[in-house]
Amino acid sequence: MMQSDLKELKKKVLIQKMPEHIAIIMDGNGRWAKERGLSRTAGHKEGMQRLKKIVKVVNDLGIKHLTVFAFSTENWKRPKKEVDFLMKLFHRAFDNEVEELHQSDVKIRVLGQIEGLPRNIKDKIDKVVEMTNKNKSLNLNIALNYGGRSEIIDAAKSLALKVKNGSIKLDDINEEKLGNELYTASIPDPQLLIRPSGEKRISNFLLWQSAYTEFWFTDTYWPDFDERELLEAIADYQERERRFGGLKEKDSR
Ligand code: IPE
Ligand code: IPE
Ligand code: MG
Repeated sequence: MMQSDLKELKKKVLIQKMPEHIAIIMDGNGRWAKERGLSRTAGHKEGMQRLKKIVKVVNDLGIKHLTVFAFSTENWKRPKKEVDFLMKLFHRAFDNEVEELHQSDVKIRVLGQIEGLPRNIKDKIDKVVEMTNKNKSLNLNIALNYGGRSEIIDAAKSLALKVKNGSIKLDDINEEKLGNELYTASIPDPQLLIRPSGEKRISNFLLWQSAYTEFWFTDTYWPDFDERELLEAIADYQERERRFGGLKEKDSR
């Protein structure tokens, strides 16, 4: 696609209703690397570069929330060498990339079992969250050691405890109360979820929050996912009819 086409696409997307929250499963780093005869770790490095670029694009589009899946509670199953590399990569990114995000007024939040992360990363997360806390532009949520099912279990436990100690009644439990116990409390549900790399599954990401999310899949590996594809995903989302179990307006008459 030529540069002028990209501009046209951007114009088209910007005049329609923008999603307020986009979620991305950053998948395909390993296969991207393998295709090039590189190590999987090289793919992860490239994936991190891609994240930087996409955050910029999303922020420039005026989108309010971006949630990216960086490491799942199941990813610990991978070889120690790969896990160690990823932890180093996250640590380095929190060190080196956050200042620029802070300058762009991006607010960072980390979703997941932070207590299960290495000490040095936990410390960085505290610093980064505190530093960007008052920022007003894009809310960047990084899902790190995140698992949708364990998130829901933790929320259930927390509500059970509140019932037990009498601070709420059993019958008071509703969707809003449970939602408020999730890592995503106060973040609206994503309207659009993008999964690159050709896989068509949710892999334990935002299970509760994606009840009515629109999904968009592409075969592109994450390190190659660019502005053009992001705009295509948004344009496609903008043409969908979201019914939430109801009917189209003209059919309900
Ligand atoms: C996503 O890329 C990064 C993480 C899960 C940490 P993968 O490492 O899953 O890449 P593929 O799916 O093996 O290509
Ligand atoms: C999902 O990708 C997790 C992240 C991208 C961080 P995986 O590569 O772990 O998912 P599966 O194993 O293909 O379902
Ligand atoms: Mg994968």
